[in-house]
Amino acid sequence: MAEVIITPTRDAAGALVADHIASLIAAQPETVLGLATGSTPEPVYRALPGALAGIDVSRVRGFALDEYVGLDPAHPESYRSVITREVVEPLGLTPALVRVPDGAGPDIARAADAYEEAIAAAGGVDLQILGIGTDGHIGFNEPGSSFASRTRVKTLTEQTRADNARFFAHPDDVPHHTVTQGLGTILEARHLVLLAFGAAKASAIAAALEGPLTARVPGSAVQLHPHVTVVVDEEAAADLEFADYYRFAYRNKPDWQGL
Ligand code: PGA
Repeated sequence: MAEVIITPTRDAAGALVADHIASLIAAQPETVLGLATGSTPEPVYRALPGALAGIDVSRVRGFALDEYVGLDPAHPESYRSVITREVVEPLGLTPALVRVPDGAGPDIARAADAYEEAIAAAGGVDLQILGIGTDGHIGFNEPGSSFASRTRVKTLTEQTRADNARFFAHPDDVPHHTVTQGLGTILEARHLVLLAFGAAKASAIAAALEGPLTARVPGSAVQLHPHVTVVVDEEAAADLEFADYYRFAYRNKPDWQGL
């Protein structure tokens, strides 16, 4: 099962995950990171420059989870721009080694296939950072997405468009379509790190971790993966039936176990 770590603050969660990523890169300079966008990974990205001090990151490779369709990559809220601004530049990664799905080209289906090929050619993702939507999505795999799905175009739910409206000048500006790694793609990463903060995520986290395995809750796909670390704050943990057990397990965890 997933390891569930309940932290007192978002910053504590960010520091925990950033320290782990730093030790991974120190041991393996060509680490392949799977990069999420949105508000959730921000504490990790804020903590990473400090955690990575003195570590060579020039060969780290990255693959974003998803991108809006039809948004100019130069738009400040394209995930290409967000990844450049929040990850590539502050961490000093090599820009050419960090890829984002192409949602603006003439043949998105072909670009999605090429993205899958690029992930495979890189040897797969070592550590995939994930957030979860209030509707249970991971990546932009909205409810109903196949557990076998690969990188492809998905239509956003109105709930997700409303959730993401805060990033845009007007709610109508949120694109309707995205190109996202599929659940099958995500499940091939060697380690999944799923983060969630705040009360709005409590029901989605409980359904994903403790509910039935169902395409109705795409995040429940993580139950199929042998190495998942879930890091949540108290508010996002509020609906977890086994929260006391997760706390007990973490308190009694031997150091050698790592994340
Ligand atoms: P958020 O989005 O991090 O902005 O809350 C999470 C998600 O949609 O996966």
